[in-house]
Amino acid sequence: LSRRVRAGAVVTTLIAVTVAGTLAYRAAASGAEPAAGASIFYTGEQRGYLEPCGCSKPQIGGLARRATFLKKTPSEVAQLQIDNGDLVDTVGRQNELKSEALAEFFKETGYAAVNLGEKDFMLGFGYLRYLQSVSQVPMLSGNTVRGDAKKPVFEAYVVRSLKVGDEETPVALIGLMSPKFEAEIAQWNPGLKVRPPTEVLTELQPQIQAEAKLAVLLFHGGLQEAKELAKAHPWLTAVVTAHEAEDYRARAETVGSTILVNAGQKGKYLGRMDLKRGAEGKVEVAHRFPIDMEHTIADDPEVRAILNRYLSHVGDEDLLAKLPKHKTTNGQSYAGTQACLTCHAKPHATWQKSAHAQAWETLVEVKHDKDPDCVGCHVVGLEHESGFRSMAQTPNLVDVGCESCHGPQSEHIKNPVKLKPPKVGAAACANCHIPEHSPSFDFEAFWKKIAH
Ligand code: HEC
Ligand code: HEC
Ligand code: HEC
Ligand code: HEC
Repeated sequence: LSRRVRAGAVVTTLIAVTVAGTLAYRAAASGAEPAAGASIFYTGEQRGYLEPCGCSKPQIGGLARRATFLKKTPSEVAQLQIDNGDLVDTVGRQNELKSEALAEFFKETGYAAVNLGEKDFMLGFGYLRYLQSVSQVPMLSGNTVRGDAKKPVFEAYVVRSLKVGDEETPVALIGLMSPKFEAEIAQWNPGLKVRPPTEVLTELQPQIQAEAKLAVLLFHGGLQEAKELAKAHPWLTAVVTAHEAEDYRARAETVGSTILVNAGQKGKYLGRMDLKRGAEGKVEVAHRFPIDMEHTIADDPEVRAILNRYLSHVGDEDLLAKLPKHKTTNGQSYAGTQACLTCHAKPHATWQKSAHAQAWETLVEVKHDKDPDCVGCHVVGLEHESGFRSMAQTPNLVDVGCESCHGPQSEHIKNPVKLKPPKVGAAACANCHIPEHSPSFDFEAFWKKIAH
């Protein structure tokens, strides 16, 4: 193989890339399942979104659905799963717990390799090594090095066998990082540097081609850089890119016979390439339309259990109580929704019947009532010193209460006429009814439902 490739011809991989329009391809694809084929599923840039929040329905995404999908692939179809990094998107204890849940997920669903992204390095090199031992799934970063060393701090590649047609086919899974992220990585890991990926690929080529027939590069960098790498290294079968957009890129880009693919962010879609043995035993690789992780896919029970364990860790460590608290802008403190009842019986009755009065129960039902990612928008004043702390400490500040919109009113209740709350209007909704959590929000229509 290596001789053939060195001669410049990429004869081992005949690429069947779809250039058809989105819908046309979808229709065509559904009837064209390979009978005894092989697939490589790729994901990346989970960014801490382990499951959809459920604030609007239906929403796509979620690890428990992905697991169901990966596990149900017919057994006669061989498959590999790979991830392109950015498991989380920032620092902090909750992100460590999220990355641990992801590590368990990768193990449970049999991922072959995870390439690290620059955001993962925010967790710190030592922690990442620990994470790798938890998941037992190889973590790659073949051009991240200490100082002037050449040896990377994580592996550069692994080789996994994939049965394509009747033949076991060794596939090299390579993981590299864009040098654009060097400063960001060094900020959290002083001394780490990112070597030029093309240099590393040149060094690895002979070794990889001696061990594998196909080479898939997980490149944690953008499309333009990836294209340059593909141009300089035509022996690459496929390149998975990162940092493109939240939604998938519908079509594969091609450079020579290398395909470049991307399945978006936050785990909404599952990317897929199909491989089959064509004429004369050549492996053909086809880009397939990324798959929506939609609500019709049931949760996998094992992964659901991993997510529940993650949520109980968040609760046990009481991360909610550890959030920073600030002073309120009007200098008053929160009185609680019950404190308004005596003088404002009518608005209170309207509120009582509204969805806002159920917001806490909603979180309890889905087991996210101790989750700092959720509680802020489902209670009163979480970010303030006198605001919500816990159901036990501040029972009058659960739910979206009067003061979620009117602001803290401890002085108004003592001196109602002199200290009147200011008008709030549509701006009162803006912090919570953001597009991500309330995509259909329209002030006129929503206000009608809660007018008082
Ligand atoms: C930025 C604010 C915000 C955050 C953060 C937030 N929510 Fe919500 N949530 C909302 C809003 C607003 C609605 C109502 C959306 C609508 O009807 O348009 C909602 C609705 C919901 C509903 C649907 C209630 C029903 O009866 O249909 C669920 C379930 C929910 N949220 C759970 C969560 C969970 C779980 C999290 C954390 C993972 C979370 N929310 C984080 C603002 C938020
Ligand atoms: C002791 C009685 C009393 C309590 C308790 C009370 N209010 Fe009031 N509130 C009043 C009175 C009286 C007015 C009308 C003042 C006026 O129009 O001169 C008023 C007016 C308001 C207004 C309208 C301001 C305007 O533009 O006219 C809002 C909003 C309001 N209260 C919110 C609250 C909230 C929220 C609470 C609970 C934290 C609360 N109030 C508790 C007596 C009370
Ligand atoms: C502190 C966060 C917060 C603020 C501020 C807020 N909401 Fe909400 N809203 C929610 C949450 C959370 C829900 C979902 C509650 C549930 O069902 O559990 C919701 C639900 C609703 C619903 C019910 C949606 C449905 O589909 O029936 C309406 C209507 C609504 N909000 C209107 C408003 C309006 C209008 C404003 C501004 C005047 C506003 N909200 C301000 C958090 C907020
Ligand atoms: C989802 C946000 C929201 C919640 C929750 C809410 N209000 Fe209001 N409220 C408003 C808005 C918006 C107005 C319109 C006037 C304004 O802009 O202040 C208003 C108006 C009022 C007024 C003035 C009505 C008038 O005749 O001018 C009072 C009094 C009041 N609210 C009390 C309450 C009380 C008491 C509660 C809790 C039981 C409550 N509100 C809950 C958003 C809210």
